[in-house]
Amino acid sequence: MTAPARNWKTLFSEGRARLERAGIDEAETKLRWVAAHGLGCGLLDVLGRLGETPAPELSRSFDEAVARLATDEPVQYVIGETDFMGLRIRCDARALIPRPETEVLVGCAEDFLRGKEKPVVVDVCTGTGCIACALAKRVPGACVRATDVSPAALDLARANACALGVEVDFRQADLLAGEEEASVDLVVSNPPYVSTAACERLDRTVRDFEPRLALDGGTDGLRVISRLVSEAAHVLTSGGRLMLEIGDDQADAVAEILCKTTGLQFLNLTSDCAGRARVAMAVRVPR
Ligand SMILES: C[S@@+](CC[C@H](N)C(=O)[O-])C[C@H]1O[C@@H](n2cnc3c(N)ncnc32)[C@H](O)[C@@H]1O
Repeated sequence: MTAPARNWKTLFSEGRARLERAGIDEAETKLRWVAAHGLGCGLLDVLGRLGETPAPELSRSFDEAVARLATDEPVQYVIGETDFMGLRIRCDARALIPRPETEVLVGCAEDFLRGKEKPVVVDVCTGTGCIACALAKRVPGACVRATDVSPAALDLARANACALGVEVDFRQADLLAGEEEASVDLVVSNPPYVSTAACERLDRTVRDFEPRLALDGGTDGLRVISRLVSEAAHVLTSGGRLMLEIGDDQADAVAEILCKTTGLQFLNLTSDCAGRARVAMAVRVPR
């Protein structure tokens, strides 16, 4: 005998019960996100459709999504996308989920690039390609390149650029390897910056699902940042900028690295909406 068709209200209450039993945070929001994705509507619109009975395939895919959420898999991986700077960015386990704080970094980069004639930008540690794609979209005429060591992340980044209709030259490379001296106007990066010990203390939804390569910045969290800063000093044009997303406890340490690096001058820190310094900036001094 086939089970009776369930309306959204029933699907929600069954899903909520399952996620609560599994101890999942923000169950209601996540369920609404999944339903909105399936229905192709906004999060608030879902509330007006609770009386509707979805087609069998949709209720089956909702159940499958609930099963994945019950393992604490991030909702962005479950629905396969997230919003970043107003763009739909595909995401899955190949790369870190773009975070709102990274939008602060893109804002700083855009401010610097605006009005420049064909600036050359390299997004290092590109992951989903969210930074590179957002800059290519927002700064017409910019020549945007992006690197990552992970071929899987680069495949995803290329798919994002293609879906968004932007041109980005993605390359598999260790940080800035292959870039010529004094050839880049802006190096922008959200590198792995979590210390190895802190990685172990991350929420399960991050620790068990997002790539360790995207998170782990070594013993002090600064392993990748330190290397990237010295490489950036070589590839930047005079007056070119380095902009880095940093951990909310790394401002002093990163400012010190930038101050000590020959060829760079530390400029400033920019804070996120919670007032935490999240972007460190330096300028390449004239050669
Ligand atoms: C924190 S994620 C950032 C992803 C994306 N830029 C964002 O903001 O959402 C860091 C990325 O750096 C890459 N990565 C780690 N070590 C690297 C290295 N030595 N050179 C280039 N990419 C690296 C990882 O594969 C991962 O995709």
